[in-house]
Amino acid sequence: MPVQVKRLLLVFAFFIAISVALIYFLTPKSFGEYGHYRGKALEEISSTEIKYVQMDDCAMCHDSIAELKNSGLHATLQCEVCHGPGFNHIEDYENNRMEIPNEGQFCMRCHIMNAASPKKVIKQIDAVEHAEGEDCITCHNPHQPWL
Ligand code: HEC
Ligand code: HEC
Ligand code: HEC
Ligand code: HEC
Repeated sequence: MPVQVKRLLLVFAFFIAISVALIYFLTPKSFGEYGHYRGKALEEISSTEIKYVQMDDCAMCHDSIAELKNSGLHATLQCEVCHGPGFNHIEDYENNRMEIPNEGQFCMRCHIMNAASPKKVIKQIDAVEHAEGEDCITCHNPHQPWL
């Protein structure tokens, strides 16, 4: 075997050995316990704090608002999109108030003119021209904006 090939093989062997050592030392202990992932990840995920619920959970107590909302063009929006996380409120509504968005134009989070978002999916308005400085909910009911 020519000497340069031998050297090349040595270099290969060196890098393979390093890779094997790195895999050995850097793979977390619980990897592969259940499948091709870190077994401990399950524990970590299941211990994260619960923050959000589903709209049906809000409807248990706020049925008339849920019904109103579901009859209109905001039907697809989750309550929590506007009111923030609801898990604690459901557990104990007296001590955990929900947020009520009160910046007059918070609706612009979604309805702002934006050339990059599809106009057919969410109607876009020019707030200055459209609302003339008034709060959106002066004219629109947030739960049923289009009666
Ligand atoms: C598009 C945003 C938006 C969504 C979605 C939304 N809300 Fe509201 N909600 C508001 C705003 C804004 C107010 C304050 C209205 C006001 O001050 O007149 C409000 C007020 C309320 C209030 C207190 C005042 C009242 O009318 O009794 C409750 C309770 C409430 N919402 C529950 C819900 C529930 C339950 C859902 C889901 C079924 C929901 N909201 C979905 C924006 C929203
Ligand atoms: C177990 C019943 C119950 C459930 C479930 C519930 N709420 Fe409420 N919520 C109430 C009561 C009662 C009040 C009025 C509290 C008061 O005035 O003392 C209230 C008040 C509110 C308010 C007014 C602000 C405040 O906190 O006082 C909003 C907004 C609201 N709820 C939204 C929601 C949303 C969104 C959900 C779902 C994530 C939800 N609620 C689930 C019982 C409930
Ligand atoms: C989380 C995003 C979001 C927020 C916040 C939001 N909207 Fe909407 N809105 C939608 C979507 C989605 C629709 C349904 C698609 C459409 O018709 O544009 C809609 C529909 C509407 C429509 C009917 C448009 C039509 O098709 O004729 C009006 C009016 C409206 N929203 C007003 C408001 C007002 C007022 C607020 C604030 C209280 C608000 N929206 C907050 C997402 C949002
Ligand atoms: C002075 C009353 C008034 C105020 C304030 C107002 N709107 Fe409207 N809005 C209307 C009327 C009336 C229409 C239907 C006619 C039209 O399209 O202009 C409408 C239509 C809309 C539409 C549907 C537009 C379309 O292309 O079909 C959206 C979205 C909307 N408003 C969002 C908002 C938001 C967000 C705000 C706050 C920045 C707001 N509106 C403030 C009266 C108002």
